Amino acid sequence: MSVTVNEKSKLFVIETDNSEYQFSADEYGVLRHLWYGERVGMSMEYLCEYPDVGFSGNIYEAENRRSYSLDTLPLEYPCTGTGDYRISAVSAVHCDGSNALDLRYSGYRLYDGKYSIEGLPAVYADDNEAQTLEIYLKDSASDIMVTLKYGVLPKLDIITRSAVIENKGESSVILTNAASLCLDMPRDYNEWIHFHGRHTLERIPERLPLAHGILESSSRRGTSSHQQNPTVILCNGECTETNGKCIGAMLMYSGSFSTKIEYDQLEQARLVMGIDPELFRWELKSGEKFFTPEAVMSFSQNGFEKLSHNFHKTVREHICRGKYKLAERPVLINNWEATYFDFDENKILNIAEQAAALGVDLLVLDDGWFGKRNDDCSGLGDWFVNTNKIKGGLGKLAENIKSLGMRFGLWFEPEMVSEDSELYRTHPEWAIKIPSRYPVRSRYQLVLDITNPDVREYLFESMSNILKSADISYIKWDMNRSICDWYTPCLSSENQGEMPHRYVLGLYELLERLTTAFPNVLFEGCSGGGGRFDAGMLYYCPQIWCSDDTDAYERTKIQYGTSFFYPISAVGSHVSAVPNHQTGRITPMETRAVTAMAGSFGYELDLNTLSDKEKQEVKKQIVRFKKDGSLIHNGLYYRLSDPMTDKFAVWEFVSEDRSEVLVNGIIFRTEPNCTQYIIKLRGLLPEADYRLAENGEVYKGSALMNGGILMPKSWGDYAPVDMHFTAEA
Ligand code: DGJ
Repeated sequence: MSVTVNEKSKLFVIETDNSEYQFSADEYGVLRHLWYGERVGMSMEYLCEYPDVGFSGNIYEAENRRSYSLDTLPLEYPCTGTGDYRISAVSAVHCDGSNALDLRYSGYRLYDGKYSIEGLPAVYADDNEAQTLEIYLKDSASDIMVTLKYGVLPKLDIITRSAVIENKGESSVILTNAASLCLDMPRDYNEWIHFHGRHTLERIPERLPLAHGILESSSRRGTSSHQQNPTVILCNGECTETNGKCIGAMLMYSGSFSTKIEYDQLEQARLVMGIDPELFRWELKSGEKFFTPEAVMSFSQNGFEKLSHNFHKTVREHICRGKYKLAERPVLINNWEATYFDFDENKILNIAEQAAALGVDLLVLDDGWFGKRNDDCSGLGDWFVNTNKIKGGLGKLAENIKSLGMRFGLWFEPEMVSEDSELYRTHPEWAIKIPSRYPVRSRYQLVLDITNPDVREYLFESMSNILKSADISYIKWDMNRSICDWYTPCLSSENQGEMPHRYVLGLYELLERLTTAFPNVLFEGCSGGGGRFDAGMLYYCPQIWCSDDTDAYERTKIQYGTSFFYPISAVGSHVSAVPNHQTGRITPMETRAVTAMAGSFGYELDLNTLSDKEKQEVKKQIVRFKKDGSLIHNGLYYRLSDPMTDKFAVWEFVSEDRSEVLVNGIIFRTEPNCTQYIIKLRGLLPEADYRLAENGEVYKGSALMNGGILMPKSWGDYAPVDMHFTAEA
């Protein structure tokens, strides 16, 4: 049993293999958070003592107990308006205009298995792998009920959180905030890491001290965004990859989100994570329920490495779904950086012929195959093939590609419309805009109002027709702008604040329908690279194009940051041409290959420009990925260096049985007359002997982990690191 309940003291203890989470309902029915950390084996209530803090008031029933304040106590799901002045998890406006809530404990339910969430992605597990604890809370003055859900996957040290807010009263209530997670951590944590960036530089970790006041890492772009990722780590100053305690939280949501940490007057950290409240206003009519997205948490007392391993396994085995969840992914070639919009079926077939000869599995036809789309100014929304470019249509092209022994994949950007398109001319009202204003254009395009069921139906039908018209094995689902101008004719003026979340619900509904109708198609997510790289999308698409920056050196930083929460198999990564199209940088072919192999591997270049020698290299790389792909995707991943500060980026894959080890990376610069860099391996069997394939030498696991190994002598800049060790039988 991972959850124990003491009915008398109303103490709830959630245990996983290496962590413990505790909360209790006190004598007033207030749900106090008591502990999240190492396994402690007793109630931590004794730490929950507070002084009388001036200007931190007391609940009415506490009478003259001035040390009892909601403003100082650690709480599980704090509300607005009733004496806790810190950031809250839930706020509502009642029919009389007041905005107070005061949730008190009213019961619980415990059952085997993992809850799911209506209309939203959620971690899933078999009944013997997980337990669910539901805590029922009721507002002291209204008929608002809240159910806090805790899903426990003990083997993975994972606890999930989600809330259901229900209006059991007669009149409507307006929800203005409904967070998924509140975590009050009074002690031990004084730093946080968030993952920020921009287009072509996503998920860069930034580690900062907690400082008094409210720290925030949020997106108001309608998507989870390039700029901030819905993941966060709380840690202390001593925490490293392998030592120290840290807590990771990941929101399974693809829309605007908010991660806030308040470091309060008593130096206590409160983390609140959920839908971004700024543009959120949801009418909860009598009898209705609101479901928050899920937040996934893990605790590690052994640094970030263990935290990442917990999240990687959870994402791969309990979030990603479908045929490709754990399957070997096809090595693909994408024509985008080879041709951009300038192609016809002959050019595509020429790429396919050459790629097939090199062993590539699948050709992806990117942007520009449909409507009138010769640049990015037109055509979005017209999901029918442009037969001027693809003479004979997609069916014939797919057959020709198939006859080469390859499969065929296609790019879509379903959520968008160009003003210069048949769709816009027929349905201008389907684009998101506020009637009295000009809409903001971005990449010349507008966003379709997928809160409108007719728009979703159009997209489902038009995409299904394409998928049925040709043998298509893969879809790249792109999304190339942030959203604003929120307004939909489908909602009344009072309910416009529901639109941003309804957009995400519409997106998930469409993805669910399509992935169910076409279970054999591999869906890859994308948003101008990694602008919507989140666990919500990974529920539908087991891989996501990681970044539009394909430069190997830049990718080491982007993939490093991505690896804190997301598994390697989720990271779409391609070998591209040099000079690189985003940076002009020239890196060796082998360097580009080892970097792209730390992902779901492929190519994105004009094979006509490669020399015969380079083509032979590509051939070998593909054979190599087919051999090592399982170690890379199923093995444990170790960050052996920090590419932000070190002179090299080195990472390692170790098979679960510890017998196979692959060390890859890049030495950024070669300096003359300097000692060779040493890298210390991790995760090996200390007693085992490991043979290094590159020199045939044998090393003890303990020596490789404690003393390390000399990295290869480099020549030139961006030299590859590629070392393969096998344990001797
Ligand atoms: C952005 C994607 O990230 C690129 O890979 C490419 O598909 C373009 N969009 C096409 O418009």
